[in-house]
Amino acid sequence: MSKKNRLVLGIETSCDETGIAIYSDKGLLADTLYSQVAMHAEYGGVVPELASRDHVRKIIPLVKQCLAQAKLNTSELSGVAYTAGPGLVGALFAGASVARSLAYAWQIPSIGVHHMEGHLLAPMLEATPPSFPFIALLVSGGHTQLIHVKKIGDYQLMGESLDDAAGEAFDKTAKLLNLGYPGGPALARCAEGGDPERFTFPRPMTNRAGLDFSFSGLKTFALTTSQQHELDPQTRADIARAFEDAVADTLAIKCKRALQQSGLSTLVVAGGVSANKRLRHTLNSMCDEQKATVFYPRHEFCTDNGAMIAYAGYQRLLAGEHDELSIQVRPRWPLSELQPPQLS
Ligand code: KG4
Ligand code: ZN
Repeated sequence: MSKKNRLVLGIETSCDETGIAIYSDKGLLADTLYSQVAMHAEYGGVVPELASRDHVRKIIPLVKQCLAQAKLNTSELSGVAYTAGPGLVGALFAGASVARSLAYAWQIPSIGVHHMEGHLLAPMLEATPPSFPFIALLVSGGHTQLIHVKKIGDYQLMGESLDDAAGEAFDKTAKLLNLGYPGGPALARCAEGGDPERFTFPRPMTNRAGLDFSFSGLKTFALTTSQQHELDPQTRADIARAFEDAVADTLAIKCKRALQQSGLSTLVVAGGVSANKRLRHTLNSMCDEQKATVFYPRHEFCTDNGAMIAYAGYQRLLAGEHDELSIQVRPRWPLSELQPPQLS
């Protein structure tokens, strides 16, 4: 990437949102998002084939929209970053093929970005970004991980979910409470009217050492509780509240442990579930007690977006990293396999 006016177009298509953004030396210049939620809602969850087809339809119009927002011509771009994994294979391919082809046509480098590295670095887009090293809690629909982050690309996994991810547990619990799709925000809304004293759910795996998680039991607990009571609106809200409190407490207990174990005092929380207000409240209290500082992305950058991919790609392109001409995606891709940015 040339040394002056570096401008990176970011393309996110790993699941059900098409996110396009432009990140530059001056920060974020443009950011657009098309959510497929309404289309998938009819089916109660993401339909992979429909997701891929919709990305194909939306990428180019959103790229044009972004260029217009930033008042830029394609000739001014210096690199293209896209999500290469993990995610739905067809959806990833849609983004990767367009990104790789645009970069080829424009004769600029491209880089495949790890979706979770994007999430992890999303708080760097804020006015007061965290500084390295820190503990990252990544909580999305597919991942729940605690990571010791020494610098960009140096990610040591400290603990992760052995079954459902936190977001997945939210989605499944919302489904069994008939709260619709997408489940996380729906359950959070429902829980607002819930009585926190009525039901108490377990805090899984907190009474033993270690930093791993297990959330599938909470979903079963919600199911059993819902079968034992008439599922009127208040009971539904009370169950949602008990579930949300259990997830938030469990995550906070493990974050506290990770901070103590590492001796670090900075926590970064990212991924879709980091938008959850109760989780933020619980983590803020824990961090106050621990004299630690916690950082989150702004609300719209918690869930999937193009800005985090443009940012992560910018960092790697800046170091001289770039792709080969072949188009490759990695639906499964452990974050700990990443290396710090390096010349390729
Ligand atoms: O990061 P993300 O957009 O996509 C993945 O990489 O998976 O995360 C989506 C997940 C979904 O499971 C969704 O239900 C959850 O994040 N989520 C929430 C909230 N907003 C999104 N969960 C709880 N409370 C929320 N406010
Ligand atoms: Zn995501």
